[in-house]
Amino acid sequence: MKFFIDTANLDEIKEANDLGVLDGVTTNPSLMAKDGVTGKDSILKRYVDICNIVDGDVSAEVISTDFNGMVKEGEMLASLHKNIVVKVPMIKEGVKALKYFSENGIRTNCTLVFSAGQAILAAKAGADYVSPFMGRVDDTTWDGTDLIDQIAVIYGNYGFETEILAASIRSPLHIVKCAEIGADVVTCPLKSIMGLLNHPLTDIGLAKFLADYKKGNK
Ligand code: E4P
Repeated sequence: MKFFIDTANLDEIKEANDLGVLDGVTTNPSLMAKDGVTGKDSILKRYVDICNIVDGDVSAEVISTDFNGMVKEGEMLASLHKNIVVKVPMIKEGVKALKYFSENGIRTNCTLVFSAGQAILAAKAGADYVSPFMGRVDDTTWDGTDLIDQIAVIYGNYGFETEILAASIRSPLHIVKCAEIGADVVTCPLKSIMGLLNHPLTDIGLAKFLADYKKGNK
């Protein structure tokens, strides 16, 4: 399973990258705004800065909602760095853009996916990644893992090569659930990645080992 971090914050990206387990980054317009990155030039610069930190796929989202606008924007984003994956929303014009990009050698991540039907369209259009939003599905009192499971079965039935990128991850438990059902990628906040480290028995065990070492090595 690939680990992506879901942020536009360079310190968080560096911290996750330093852990040695990071395979990529996802961003979206809300994450850029949250980190105070506004204006086209600053946003484009931030994508390049992220690509220079992480040796892996970096999703950059288009703002346009019409086919021609998405194509123009996506081509510009893809030209920034070889690691850029163009993030396209699951709307009618987006499906057309996904198809265009797949036929023209530009890698894509289809975002805002909330149903298996949408995931089928993304795969048919040749998306490299499909992003079901697990946490936001949970918010509607439906289990996000069921959606990812359903997409995995469908993609397996037909050998679709689109990778399932579980997004909107909110906790370490989400990550473990995604691993159990075989999601190809999870994109997570730093807190959820670091949360995987925690177990009180590890802390207790380490304290005892160190205390015993001290006793025997005065
Ligand atoms: C990433 O690709 C998505 O945009 C992101 O995971 C959405 O997360 P949220 O539901 O916490 O905003």
